[in-house]
Amino acid sequence: MSNKTNQQWGGRFSEPTDAFVARFTASVDFDKRLYKQDIQGSVAHARMLTRVGVLSQSECDDIVRGLGEIRVQIERGEFEWSVALEDVHMNIEAALTQKIGITGKKLHTGRSRNDQVATDIRLYLRDETDLILDEISRLQQGLLDLAEQEAETVMPGFTHLQTAQPVTFGHHLMAWFEMLSRDYERFVDTRKRINVMPLGAAALAGTTYPIDRHYTAELLQFSAPAGNSLDAVSDRDFAIEFCAASSLLLMHLTRMSEELVLWASAQFNFVNLPDRFCTGSSIMPQKKNPDVPELVRGKSGRVYGHLFSLLTLMKSQPLAYNKDNQEDKEPLFDTVDTVKGCLRAFADMVPALEARRDVMREAALRGFSTATDLADYLVRKGVAFRDAHEIVGLSVAYGIRTGQDLGQMTLDELRQFSEVIEADVFEVLTLEGSVSARDHIGGTAPAQVRHAVAAGRQLLLSR
Ligand code: ARG
Repeated sequence: MSNKTNQQWGGRFSEPTDAFVARFTASVDFDKRLYKQDIQGSVAHARMLTRVGVLSQSECDDIVRGLGEIRVQIERGEFEWSVALEDVHMNIEAALTQKIGITGKKLHTGRSRNDQVATDIRLYLRDETDLILDEISRLQQGLLDLAEQEAETVMPGFTHLQTAQPVTFGHHLMAWFEMLSRDYERFVDTRKRINVMPLGAAALAGTTYPIDRHYTAELLQFSAPAGNSLDAVSDRDFAIEFCAASSLLLMHLTRMSEELVLWASAQFNFVNLPDRFCTGSSIMPQKKNPDVPELVRGKSGRVYGHLFSLLTLMKSQPLAYNKDNQEDKEPLFDTVDTVKGCLRAFADMVPALEARRDVMREAALRGFSTATDLADYLVRKGVAFRDAHEIVGLSVAYGIRTGQDLGQMTLDELRQFSEVIEADVFEVLTLEGSVSARDHIGGTAPAQVRHAVAAGRQLLLSR
């Protein structure tokens, strides 16, 4: 045979593949990352073929041993990847045949690269999802510890980034915890749809061999074989869902990042990010920049982009497999790397955050943060809420004119606006009075933060 085209499919070709086309269509440079899952899938496929009598036990043993050796070679960096062999699947199969001879050529019986690659990606994503779930839990653990420590720390809460009402820092951190709990659930849910097995679908229609798909699924710990062969080789919903869950997670991390960047600024000065999470400036000697949260904020862009890449990749694709699908891998791999990197950075950094309690408290004392408390006080004294709102508005205007916050005014000054105000008003105008009054489930009172932390600890234990 003089034909120099690919040995695994070259039979019907009359001229070699154009050199550029070979490189252009090859995926091995990036899909070699799937080697472990590819081997795992092949071992299970071979065992299944043996069980149903398509391969003999000694053929199976040779295949399993050969693949094991290839795995070791790859992990030692001794494996020679060849672009001419197109992708990870054919590289490994060719190496197997070189190693064990003709039996290697039997491995692909009843299988196609179409169900093979779909299986590999699912195995890969299942592994990575498990790592991501653990890392979300680690970040949440750090938040619980910090929230407990800062349960009584008062800071200004914001709406429109304007001082709104006092909140506890612990409560703010537990808001982050809630966001991450939803992210965790989304990945758990996505994992269910990742964990379905394409093998047996072969190219698109299934196979004529007496295969036992349940057995292969069991070996690979998939929950079930995919229900339709056409869908099995072409479905990439699970990858899109993974990127969607990742996008939401990253979006949450950008919100946390934004707050950390603001809080670390001289203008807020609410937290100190330890030096090891910051970098300096090559020109301005005084600078300490919050690079980690800034970079996480920036990295969201690529993950959102990958989500759209995959949605666009799948749009209008006719059944079943199309080569377009080879383009699913790079966005997916980069999403995995980015999510893991950002989570790691956050999980390492959060426990090291130092709250500047006095600065937070000082900030909460400014900006009339207890104005709503005064209105609620008036309501308790029988004033209608709308009238109370007006009275407090006038008091705030007076405070702005005279340069004092509500708690700094004398009783006589306050009574100019309403005669129902008495000496007990000063209790509700304190920051501690304000936060501890919001003592219901989901409220900002220190006692509620402690409840939320306890519930959070239970949640993590149940995972
Ligand atoms: N490298 C291909 C991919 O990533 C593997 C499947 C190729 N199948 C085919 N019939 N060309 O999708």
